[in-house]
Formats: sequence, structure tokens, C-alpha cells
Amino acid sequence: MKINNINWICVETYEEMSRLAAEKLASQLKNKPDSVLGLATGSTPIGLYQNLVKACRAGEISFADAKSVNLDEYVGLDASHPQSYRYFMNDNLFSHVDIKEENINIPQGCAEDIAAECVRYSAKIRELGGVDIQLLGVGNNGHIAFNEPCDRFIGRTHEVPLTESTREANARFFDSIDEVPKSALTMGIADIFEAKEILLVANGEKKIEILKKAFEGDIDPDIPVSILLLHPNVTVIVTPEASK
Ligand code: GLP
Repeated sequence: MKINNINWICVETYEEMSRLAAEKLASQLKNKPDSVLGLATGSTPIGLYQNLVKACRAGEISFADAKSVNLDEYVGLDASHPQSYRYFMNDNLFSHVDIKEENINIPQGCAEDIAAECVRYSAKIRELGGVDIQLLGVGNNGHIAFNEPCDRFIGRTHEVPLTESTREANARFFDSIDEVPKSALTMGIADIFEAKEILLVANGEKKIEILKKAFEGDIDPDIPVSILLLHPNVTVIVTPEASK
């Protein structure tokens, strides 16, 4: 079905959501082996990545010519920190597929000059020719990547202070909330929006609720995901099944 311009697919289980989403990314890679894949972290895409790893091991797809661009990274955590998004990506996807190290792009949360890193990252995305398909999750408050609810949309990669609700939501991955970084680097709304196609995955009733509020209402920087209403090619795959 459609909610405004959004292709809305609701499936029964997390497994089905993961399978369908992986199929979409896999067919992108089959059609264009040198695709620029926009990738996301969080618990939601883990099942999808497992399916991609399986497909790669079975020889159905290859990442050998693909490039990846990740949405965000915590400030202050480097690749060796188990909660850094770089570590997450290695653990869940990169170490298990044939992607080349030089084709992996993630904002450097430990860069000496954070402002320069932000400029470099947005420029890098453009240099790659833009993202072919951008995978997104959504935060409980409607954030995409780490674009938190705000009074305006910020276009390019920037450092963002994390809201308490996001820090609390992400504290489950750390030993305590005090260890959750207070800020992150995130692709901006224009960086995300310029992707040719967007694929958003979400599971659990809370996420469905915030997405419906966003897509049935007005575009509002206070619910950042609502910006997708303006994008011409968005597919959202949701399931009410909560994470296990
Ligand atoms: C983090 C990430 C987002 C992600 C969100 C939801 O805040 N920066 O990109 O969409 O978490 O995560 P989860 O899938 O674990 O609910």
C-alpha cells in the first residue's frame, strides 16, 4: 500500500522484514555490482545483514566492486571500540563479505578535526557519485541516522549532541548510560535525501506509530523521518514484531 508517496510494506515477522529488505539490496548489487550502498547500524538491520552474508557466501552476490557509505558514528569511539559503528559493521557484515577495505566509508568519530571530517565526509559521498540505495532505520523519536528532532533540518554531515532519549535507548548496548557518547557525527538530511532510492526498515509497534505519525502528518524537523515524504523513491518495510 501507499501512505502518501511512501511504499509501505507491512509483514508479520522480523525474519520476513529482514529477508525482503536483503532481497532489495541484493538485487541492487546484481543489477549494478559497483553500487554505492548507504548502510545503517542499530539492532533492526542485523537480520538483513545476516541474509546478505548468506547470499554472498552462496555466491549469489558480491561486494567486490561495491562501495559503502555509513550514516553515522559516535564521537570519541574508534574502530576497536565494540560499540563503535565501524566495529558493528565489521562484525555484522564487512568481515564476512568480499567488500574491499578501501571502499568502506564511515565518518571518523576520532578525527582530530571533527569539523573538517564532516566536510570531507559529505564531499566523499558526492565524489562517489552519490548513494544508489540508502538503508535507514528510525529512532523511537523519529530520528534518521543521528538527525535528532530539531527546529530545522541540517543538510550535510555534522556533529550532533544526542538527546537523552536516544542515549537511553542506545544504553542497552553499553555497560551503563554514562558510557554512551554525548555526541555523534551524522550524515545530514540532504546527504541522505540525495540517495536515488531509500529503504527504511523498522520493527515493533513504537516504530510503526512514529512512522505513521510522520507520514500521515506534515513535514516537520521535529520528526526528522517526515522529510522522506518529499523523496520520490522510498520503500518502508515494517513489522509489528518487536526485537527478540
Ligand atoms: C541509532 C542509529 C540509527 C538507528 C537507530 C535505531 O540511533 N544512529 O541509525 O536507526 O539507532 O536503532 P535500532 O534499530 O536499534 O532501534
